[in-house]
Amino acid sequence: MPDISSEKSYADGKILQHATDGVGVITFNNPDKRNAMSLEMWEGFGEALTALRDDDAVRVVILRGAGGKAFVSGADISQFEKNRHNAAASEEYARRSVAQRALLADYPKPTIACIQGFCLGGGMQVAMLADIRLASRDSQFGIPAAKLGIAYGFDGLRHLVSLVGPSWARLLMYTGMRIDSAEALRIGLVERVFPEGELWGETMAIAATISQNAPLAIKAAKITIAQVLKDESARDMDAIKAIGTACMDSADFREGRQAFMEKRKPQFQGK
Ligand code: COA
Repeated sequence: MPDISSEKSYADGKILQHATDGVGVITFNNPDKRNAMSLEMWEGFGEALTALRDDDAVRVVILRGAGGKAFVSGADISQFEKNRHNAAASEEYARRSVAQRALLADYPKPTIACIQGFCLGGGMQVAMLADIRLASRDSQFGIPAAKLGIAYGFDGLRHLVSLVGPSWARLLMYTGMRIDSAEALRIGLVERVFPEGELWGETMAIAATISQNAPLAIKAAKITIAQVLKDESARDMDAIKAIGTACMDSADFREGRQAFMEKRKPQFQGK
């Protein structure tokens, strides 16, 4: 496990955040409720994301759940009676959580969801908003909206369809079924599956690789892939051109070439 000496806490300790060696980590920390997300946790999550976004030393962010049993088991259903009992209340609820999800959707740094245990409902939404999903063998995935009477919304379903295709999206949504990691891997919901004891080390190894690569080149990939996923008419081709130019004119590109010729490891600065 990482050094947690500099851990910062939000939402009464239910969201934790720390950074080591260029890797930021946000932990959903409400294990008694399988890390179900209250509104306060959504807001704390937004604060943690903002802090790591603004920390120049952080080059990649990992999201994970505490307790070993869940990544996030969805929104905290116990708050629904008060905060989400009808359309008007639901709109206010969405307003308070949507801003945090938008932060993650437009995050300028690479993000990895490290999933151990249940990843359900709003937890799936968080995981699908991350750039990459890595999971332990004992994880389970599902969106039980049809079991609760909730509409999952455009953004969540857009990501689901882009990952698993419309038919699997329908099967998951119509039944509310849970699938295991092997099936999630097969349908493209997660990229890699590891034994429980290896998940964290493997996740950190991938994060470390990303953090040592050229930040501008990663940003270029992130921006361009996001544009590929948009409708052609909505694509910002200028943004792709601008980041391409920034890469080719960067000191890091010079460093990358030199390091290759000198047979040494490059030291990238992100400029
Ligand atoms: N909201 C609020 N509380 C939740 C929760 C959620 N989404 N998910 C779990 N909890 C609470 C349970 O109510 C229980 O509380 P209690 O100890 O006070 O009874 C505690 O977390 C442990 O859950 P439990 O069901 O006993 O654990 P489990 O390991 O057998 O099952 C889940 C875990 C996640 C599969 C199950 O709790 C579940 O189905 N939760 C709801 C998932 C859901 O519908 N998410 C979508 C919300 S939009």
